[in-house]
Parts: sequence; structure tokens; C-alpha cells
Amino acid sequence: MAGYEAAHWTIDDLDFSRIELDRIRDDDTLFYLACSASFIESGSDLYTHNLVDFFAGDEEVTAWLRDHWEHEELQHGRALRAYVNHVWPEFDWEPAFRNFLTEYATYCKVDLLAPTRGLEMSARCVVETGTATYYRALAKAASEPVFVDLCTRIATDEVNHYKHFYKFFRRYRGEERLGRLRVLGTVARRTWELKSEDADCALRHIARGRHPAQADDRAWQRGLSSRVNRTVSRNLNPGMTLKMLMRPLELPAPVQTALQVPIELFMQRVFLR
Ligand SMILES: [Fe+2]
Ligand SMILES: [Fe+2]
Repeated sequence: MAGYEAAHWTIDDLDFSRIELDRIRDDDTLFYLACSASFIESGSDLYTHNLVDFFAGDEEVTAWLRDHWEHEELQHGRALRAYVNHVWPEFDWEPAFRNFLTEYATYCKVDLLAPTRGLEMSARCVVETGTATYYRALAKAASEPVFVDLCTRIATDEVNHYKHFYKFFRRYRGEERLGRLRVLGTVARRTWELKSEDADCALRHIARGRHPAQADDRAWQRGLSSRVNRTVSRNLNPGMTLKMLMRPLELPAPVQTALQVPIELFMQRVFLR
């Protein structure tokens, strides 16, 4: 772990002077995707504290959460915010974020965590799979080089978070003697929850700042949300996502192959909702 922090990137590594404005500024969908990601990442400390409490007494886990994970998630938020400010300076980020946070805080309760530590680790694997997938899709959807660079860096971090949670999951699975079926239940439930309240809540608050006249129109909201989801789902890499989602189940290869198609369909539904 010692060299890990030294190798990690900072906002100064991003060269905002290289941004090619004409490749992104008029893309309203990418504005919403980048901005909602900046909101959710910037709200990370709300649930870091929940997780740290949940794993109290496990020094290896809590130290990593506090010293690496939380720090990196918040940096994702800051970097995305800086990017949004640079490309869309007319958007007033702070007040929209404050309003978002007030509502978002009501979703982040400790009782939303999985019933055991091991199952929560499998759920964290799902969440990190979701974020890694999201940023890879964004990097693919965009052509502006600084944005592609930023999303690629974040995606790499998310995969790295996944690896840590997976390592912790394996330790707890042994200690708790978790069966595949219980893990599958948690993985399926979290996959279903991936694309739901958080993103819609962020989009709503961004829209109030960006498109105040339409923001409270339900039909317009649905249109915005499906535009945003379509951009992500068109650029998904289902193979990689599936591999990450199924890894905690450690299924024999033939079972994994048999499950591939139904899970792929399930995932498409999750991202297309
Ligand atoms: Fe992140
Ligand atoms: Fe992450």
C-alpha cells in the first residue's frame, strides 16, 4: 500500500487548458452525466461514515476506507466539479449541490446496509462495478480528450476499489461461511438498485439550475432521464461488467456461461430504466 498513494493522480495532473470546448460544450446529455457524477461523488463522505461505523474494530478495512477510499471518491467529485465549472461556467454548481445533498442525505442510512459485513462487501463490489462501468461508458461516449482522460482515471480507481472490496469480501465470506445463494441475493438486489434514486435525485436538482422552466415537468424529466440512460447503455461493456459482478459468486465455469445471457438482459434493463 505504501507506493499506492504516491502513484495516485491529483487534479493538477489534468490539463484543463487542453480542453476542446467545441467537442463537448453543446452536448447537454454529457453535461448532465458529468454533473450528476460530480454530485454523487461529492456526497461520498455521507456513506463513508456509515461504512466505517459498520466495520468498526476491523482496522484493515476502516483504515483503507478512511485513508484511501473516501479521499479518492471525494477527489473524483472535485475533479468532475472543476471540469463542469470549466466547460459550463454559467451553471451555478454550489447551490444546486446543497439542495441535492439535503435530499440525498435521507437515502444514506446505516440500515440500508446489507445484513452482514461479508454481504455488505459483496454489495460494495456491485457498487464499484457500477461506477467503473459508468465512467468507462462516459469515456467511450465522449470525444473531448481531457474528459476522456478524467473518466479513464476515475474508472481505473473504481476498478481498484472493487479489488479491495473483493479481497475483504473473501476474508469475511470465510469467517461468516456465506453460501452462494445469499451472496447472489445481495448482488442481484444491489444491481437492481444501482440506477435509481441517486441518479434521478441528482438530475432533478441539476435541472432546476439548468432548465428551471422545464425542471418540474414530469414528462420532461422522464425524457431527460432516458436520454442520459441511453447514452450510458449504448456505451456499456457488458462482458467486463458481468465478469466483475459474478466474481464474488465463484460459480463453476459452465454455470457462469449458462447465466451469462439472463444476467446480460437483466443488466440492460437496469441501465435502460
Ligand atoms: Fe468514484
Ligand atoms: Fe469507488
